[in-house]
Amino acid sequence: MKREGVLVIGSSNMDLVVTANRFPNPGETIFGKNFEMFPGGKGANQAVCCARLGCKTAFIGKMGNDEFKEKLSKILIEDNVDISGLFTDENEHTGTALITVDETGQNQIIVISGSNMKLTPQDIGNKSALFESVKVVLTQLEIPIETVIKTAELAKQSNSLFILNPAPALHLPDSILPMIDYLTPNENELEILSESKITDETSLLNAAKKLIDKGVKNVIVTLGAKGAMLLNMDGVKYFSGFRVKAIDTTAAGDVFNGALAANLSFENSINKAIEFANKAASISVTRSGAQSSIPY
Ligand code: RIB
Repeated sequence: MKREGVLVIGSSNMDLVVTANRFPNPGETIFGKNFEMFPGGKGANQAVCCARLGCKTAFIGKMGNDEFKEKLSKILIEDNVDISGLFTDENEHTGTALITVDETGQNQIIVISGSNMKLTPQDIGNKSALFESVKVVLTQLEIPIETVIKTAELAKQSNSLFILNPAPALHLPDSILPMIDYLTPNENELEILSESKITDETSLLNAAKKLIDKGVKNVIVTLGAKGAMLLNMDGVKYFSGFRVKAIDTTAAGDVFNGALAANLSFENSINKAIEFANKAASISVTRSGAQSSIPY
């Protein structure tokens, strides 16, 4: 069978988004400007991004048996994402995220995981056939860590490239690190993963080097408007960002990861993949919402 495309394993959430001039302080009540619901969740966002870039895409995730599942799965189907790996949990609600966006486009997010945290290693094992037909496997940390580890193992067994977007950050067991072909933290996530404070370019590089020394093949640090840094055994390379007027940075990281995975599945070079991913992410921050902001 010809191997092509990306398999994304991860979360799907309905995002409940308010915009306000600024974030409230603890204990403070403020008036917001607008409320909207957008389809989101890091896993589903990344899958939609791959598909919109013309990449054959499959998604493994778990939703509740509720109205949000109806809406979120409909959008995945409309975007040509194969959802034969979508499970339903009868006892949990579909994931939800409460998001506040301020007038500079920055956000604060609280995720109520619901069914996302019920996606088990056994579920992934039951869909192992999906790993055999793809070139790239991509996941994040909005599902249980045991499920992420099982995903890494199946990706390696099936000789797929394995990308881990370590968001939201948590300390990873050392055993998973040698299975990771591309690890894509932002600066905050890199601080947590490397247990080191990042204050400048040197500390950034040293923090990424710690993960390379533990077996990660490539560390790509996303630097927001400043672009990205790639570190591997060949050395370090910086990629500049693009100047845009940001109105909502939600899902910029997801677009970066989806675009990176799609480009690697097209067998483009890592340099080309990162440049493209930076461009796609910079377009997404000029638009509101998560999946609503993902470019075609
Ligand atoms: O990365 C953005 C996403 O994080 C949002 O869509 C929200 O659902 C949370 O998962």
